[in-house]
Amino acid sequence: MKSRTRYATLLYTLFLIAENCVSLPLNTSAYLSQIVEDIHAARPLRNSYQIPCSPVFQLLTLALFYNSTNGPNWYRKDGWNSTVWTVPNIISYVSKTCTQKLGTSVISLPAWCCWYGVYCCLSQNSCPNIVMNNGTYVEQLICGNCTVGNITGLDLADNNLIGNISWSNVTQEISYPLYHQFLPAIACDMKFLFLQNNQLEETIPQALSDFTALKAVNLGYNQIRGQLPPLQNLDYLQVLAVANNRISGALPTGICAGNNSITNLILGNNLLTGTFDTTGCRLLISVQSQNNKIKGTLPNLTGYGALHILQMANNLITGSIPPGFGKGKFITSLNLASNRLNGTIPADFSLNLQYLNQLSLTNNYFEGTIPTTFFSYLGSLSAAYFDNNFLSGSIPDSIR
Ligand SMILES: *[C@@H]1O[C@H](CO)[C@@H](O)[C@H](O)[C@H]1NC(C)=O
Ligand SMILES: *[C@@H]1O[C@H](CO)[C@@H](O)[C@H](O)[C@H]1NC(C)=O
Ligand SMILES: *[C@@H]1O[C@H](CO)[C@@H](O)[C@H](O)[C@H]1NC(C)=O
Ligand SMILES: *[C@@H]1O[C@H](CO)[C@@H](O)[C@H](O)[C@H]1NC(C)=O
Ligand SMILES: *[C@@H]1O[C@H](CO)[C@@H](O)[C@H](O)[C@H]1NC(C)=O
Ligand SMILES: *[C@@H]1O[C@H](CO)[C@@H](O)[C@H](O)[C@H]1NC(C)=O
Ligand SMILES: *[C@@H]1O[C@H](CO)[C@@H](O)[C@H](O)[C@H]1NC(C)=O
Ligand SMILES: *[C@@H]1O[C@H](CO)[C@@H](O)[C@H](O)[C@H]1NC(C)=O
Ligand SMILES: *[C@@H]1O[C@H](CO)[C@@H](O)[C@H](O)[C@H]1NC(C)=O
Ligand SMILES: *[C@@H]1O[C@H](CO)[C@@H](O)[C@H](O)[C@H]1NC(C)=O
Ligand SMILES: *[C@@H]1O[C@H](CO)[C@@H](O)[C@H](O)[C@H]1NC(C)=O
Repeated sequence: MKSRTRYATLLYTLFLIAENCVSLPLNTSAYLSQIVEDIHAARPLRNSYQIPCSPVFQLLTLALFYNSTNGPNWYRKDGWNSTVWTVPNIISYVSKTCTQKLGTSVISLPAWCCWYGVYCCLSQNSCPNIVMNNGTYVEQLICGNCTVGNITGLDLADNNLIGNISWSNVTQEISYPLYHQFLPAIACDMKFLFLQNNQLEETIPQALSDFTALKAVNLGYNQIRGQLPPLQNLDYLQVLAVANNRISGALPTGICAGNNSITNLILGNNLLTGTFDTTGCRLLISVQSQNNKIKGTLPNLTGYGALHILQMANNLITGSIPPGFGKGKFITSLNLASNRLNGTIPADFSLNLQYLNQLSLTNNYFEGTIPTTFFSYLGSLSAAYFDNNFLSGSIPDSIR
């Protein structure tokens, strides 16, 4: 009880400071240390306390992240390298501002909003629209509401980040055992987090579950281990991209529970096991879960009205393709190669999948004959692979 009360008092003091712009006490180090410890102690209550979104916490979080991912060796670090992030330096930096243009007006923002890769809310309903671009596939994400000056995104892809996404490897001045947890101060309004193509390791902090405004996360092409944190509170999450890591465990159950917005699940080249339960993923456009160890049968596509890409090659999927598979879908790319699928190819397969452009059923245990009419319905098909099965029939030369 005693520590709860102390926590409440300190947090309240902090909010007063944030609200009224009172300057922090002189011995800031002891002061901040106490607050942070108390917030940590309150973590189990994290859904019932308010995340401190105050500027000092936002900056502290950025500083910790810089420190814990080998900041001085980043390729681009404009702004991040403007000082050494000791607590006194953090405190004196908090009030600095920078300006950005929005249309014809010039807006004053916290100085870190102008650092490399940091995106802030520029006006109440307008933070920069996000473009996910992997070279060929462009996805426009609309930011939506935000509070001016709050961090709405971090894009530090391809930037030589090395280490743990701890957000909180606190040295010397502030000591508390928050390793592997984000200090979620920057989560208040964060819509996108792009850290792909770096050398991040360890697990994804559980606190990602608290980034409830997130729309897109890309942590692909790192060396991240461990399991995915629970994601069912991320009602706005559209894109989850974690390909090419060492992530294990099953896809979190309930990933598509509630009012989820998930459109893209990019999970390829990991160590994911378990079955693929995407029940409720009504808005899925692209599922790429190739090269994992996913078990079970093919996902039930009922309700996935928007699905275009289903890439599940090289897993441990068993059973057969059910009749009606893909009915009413717009699947253009279907890759089920190198699984343990068997049975015959259903007669209605090509009727249901008439938008198919790419098809691979290679390296499975399919049997029976590919009907001669099979290809006549697949007007958009440019490549199809059936080898290493027990199939007979012939494939037109045009798509070989
Ligand atoms: C600040 O607080 C720390 C920890 O409580 C203490 O060791 C240090 O002496 C204090 N410094 C000053 C200048 O009061
Ligand atoms: C960020 O937004 C929250 C509310 O969403 C607000 O409490 C906080 O003060 C804002 N922080 C900044 C730096 O504007
Ligand atoms: C900060 O890093 C940038 C590279 O991103 C570099 O151009 C600049 O000179 C650095 N500034 C300082 C003060 O080290
Ligand atoms: C980009 O995404 C598209 C569609 O999801 C996919 O076909 C393509 O292979 C991806 N390209 C890269 C370079 O990841
Ligand atoms: C923005 O906030 C307003 C008021 O809270 C709300 O009515 C509106 O639906 C929100 N828009 C979005 C896109 O979240
Ligand atoms: C990441 O965390 C692990 C476990 O605490 C530690 O052994 C490792 O040294 C850390 N890696 C880096 C680069 O700091
Ligand atoms: C914390 O940072 C130090 C260097 O500042 C590093 O040696 C250590 O491995 C880091 N620890 C974790 C858990 O990331
Ligand atoms: C960040 O690293 C610098 C240099 O190692 C250190 O002086 C500073 O205390 C660290 N800041 C925090 C908040 O841990
Ligand atoms: C879904 O949203 C509706 C209204 O927008 C709300 O009443 C309902 O509680 C939400 N359901 C979940 C599971 O979040
Ligand atoms: C597929 O899912 C739908 C809706 O969730 C359900 O009604 C149907 O019975 C399921 N089909 C199979 C074969 O499990
Ligand atoms: C397909 O394989 C499963 C085991 O994964 C087996 O139970 C089933 O009988 C097989 N079906 C056919 C048609 O061979």
